[in-house]
Amino acid sequence: MAPHTIESNYDVVFAGGGTTACMVAGRLTKADPNLKILILEAGPTTKDKIEHIQPGRYITHLAPDSKTMQFYESKASEHMAGRGLVVPSARCVGGGASVNFVLYNRPAASDFDTWETEYSNPGWGSKDLIPLLQKAETYEVDPTRKTHGSSGPIKVSFGGNSSMMEICKQFLEVGPQFEKDRPQSEEGNNLDPESLNCFFRMPKFSSSKGRRSDTATHYLYNQDSKNVTLCDGTRVKRVLFEGTKAIGVEYVFDKQVHPDAEQSVHTVLASRLIVLSAGAMGSPLVLERSGIGAASVLEKAGIKQLVDLPGVGKEYDDHPFLVTPYFVDPNVTTYDRLFRGDAETWGKNMAQWDADGSGLLGANGVDASVKFRPLEHEVEELGPDFEEVWKKDYAQKPDKPLFWMSALAGLPADQSALPPISYFCSGVSLGYPVSRGHLHVTSDDIYAAPDFDCGFLSHPADVAVLRWGYKRAREILRRMPVYRGAFAPAHPHFDADSLAGIALTEDGPVPLNAPKIVYSKKDDDAIDANIRSFVGTTWHSLGTCPMKPRERGGVVDTDLNVYGVTGLKLADLSIAPSNVNCNTYSATLAIGEKAALIIAKELGIEGV
Ligand SMILES: Cc1cc2nc3c(=O)[nH]c(=O)nc-3n(C[C@H](O)[C@H](O)[C@H](O)COP(=O)(O)OP(=O)(O)OC[C@H]3O[C@@H](n4cnc5c(N)ncnc54)[C@H](O)[C@@H]3O)c2cc1C
Ligand SMILES: *[C@@H]1O[C@H](CO)[C@@H](O)[C@H](O)[C@H]1NC(C)=O
Ligand SMILES: *[C@@H]1O[C@H](CO)[C@@H](O)[C@H](O)[C@H]1NC(C)=O
Repeated sequence: MAPHTIESNYDVVFAGGGTTACMVAGRLTKADPNLKILILEAGPTTKDKIEHIQPGRYITHLAPDSKTMQFYESKASEHMAGRGLVVPSARCVGGGASVNFVLYNRPAASDFDTWETEYSNPGWGSKDLIPLLQKAETYEVDPTRKTHGSSGPIKVSFGGNSSMMEICKQFLEVGPQFEKDRPQSEEGNNLDPESLNCFFRMPKFSSSKGRRSDTATHYLYNQDSKNVTLCDGTRVKRVLFEGTKAIGVEYVFDKQVHPDAEQSVHTVLASRLIVLSAGAMGSPLVLERSGIGAASVLEKAGIKQLVDLPGVGKEYDDHPFLVTPYFVDPNVTTYDRLFRGDAETWGKNMAQWDADGSGLLGANGVDASVKFRPLEHEVEELGPDFEEVWKKDYAQKPDKPLFWMSALAGLPADQSALPPISYFCSGVSLGYPVSRGHLHVTSDDIYAAPDFDCGFLSHPADVAVLRWGYKRAREILRRMPVYRGAFAPAHPHFDADSLAGIALTEDGPVPLNAPKIVYSKKDDDAIDANIRSFVGTTWHSLGTCPMKPRERGGVVDTDLNVYGVTGLKLADLSIAPSNVNCNTYSATLAIGEKAALIIAKELGIEGV
């Protein structure tokens, strides 16, 4: 039996029902309740499920048996010490917004201006997109702040655990005492140069009642839109064309969500528009299965080409993430017991959240942050591999940091092979990697693993930036009163008699004015090897279907039309023509609001 009743024809069909799709569909149906919309989402529904309401459950979505995540395996790479890397991507209604870590961290204004000026997309600069970020949000922290919103659907606050965790508090206090040029600030998210090089309290995509602010809940589930048909567990195989006009899609019911459903391919037609919104991992694969992509890729996969668009899946971008663990005073609270599934901790925190939305489950353990940009005199610390990149990409753009850094109250990873104690970590997420990967289909089989290379660290400048991040973070953390030493197995293998190696044996904090660790060339090499062995993803896949001129490898134009066809638009983070230094839900909100305006205009719908 079919799990959903799907009619033969709708006005608009969304292929993918993630973060962006829920926003766009929600805006459209609100403005025009007569519009017949179908949303086909591969993963399960999230409505009223506690695992999508409590922010603190984020780690459970990353468990190897998770049903809300699709795990993409990047091939083994010499740049990552011969490792492959699993890049999880959301697979559920609401997509990333329904499973992410709820970190609220916004980009630089120049990130959007680059989209507008350097990639020829009028209307996509900061003067257009910042108002759309405001439109999307209610900034419960302080709705009067100049670039924040006061009445949008997405609530932003310090979370249900509005008291900071001790680890994060110490990071916020000790950071500026040690980094004398980097003060504490009330605001690190104004998209301007003043938001850099300051330690700030990190807000969350959560209400102050400790409830996740995802787009499914706040744009779609909250509307009684009878003309929106939302089908979970439904995978889009490809877009169907009449000539070059998109007329419908083929889909199958997902094996995992609907194990009893038959596996035949069905067709549904869209009379007005198809919106591809399958995310940076999903969208290029749907396009290629539809015959849109590079000739060489399609030929190898045995797919007949319809449009030659070599930019599809050509450049995979993300934020390489270095998480480095330390021991922490066992008296302070961390997320580790929760991460390890300790029943007593879960019980206690469930009760606390039920009572008032507070506790570990109403927050995420990442309460303070800093966006690092080297000061004039620090640039040379990054070494020769970075010099050209600095001149080309950063020097003229004073609002661009190299990375954001936080202290994490716990070790957010599979701890089954680790001592069951408390940890804290530095997290350094590289904002603008130079390296790029790729993502392509290998066949027209919807379940086939793609040809994926995340490309991390193939450019030496990226290693240089993370090396600097490791050193800076370590100096701050080892001065925090809760510090109880480094978790050596996950640190670089320094020579035991090097200063860097000796400091690994510290078992408590050093004074604020202790000398900085001096690293030899050999120590630097050890750090680089560590980075290659431990780098991971920040789950910020983007840029696989870039919005830029076709002759420059673009896949969509400024109005989100896929080149070479009609009736097909693309709306998700895959369109980013260049990277954004933020946790990418933020940039996705701007894309979603912008896409809603563009699509409404095309359909002649007013009031979006
Ligand atoms: C684990 C994790 C942690 C993160 N943490 C943060 C954070 O703390 N803060 C932050 O700002 N950002 C975070 N992000 C990033 C952010 O959530 C994403 O960048 C954003 O949600 C992307 O939105 P999107 O609409 O482009 O794609 P998605 O939200 O991923 O939506 C794409 C949807 O399409 C579906 N799909 C794919 N292929 C098909 C198909 N063939 N047929 C039907 N459906 C399909 C997928 O199942 C998915 O639901 C995180 C992401 C993840 C995965
Ligand atoms: C759904 O759309 C039809 C027209 O297509 C309209 O008559 C009906 O009122 C709409 N339903 C709702 C609940 O808005
Ligand atoms: C924990 O706190 C107690 C007293 O409150 C103190 O004696 C002990 O040293 C602390 N433990 C650590 C590891 O700091």
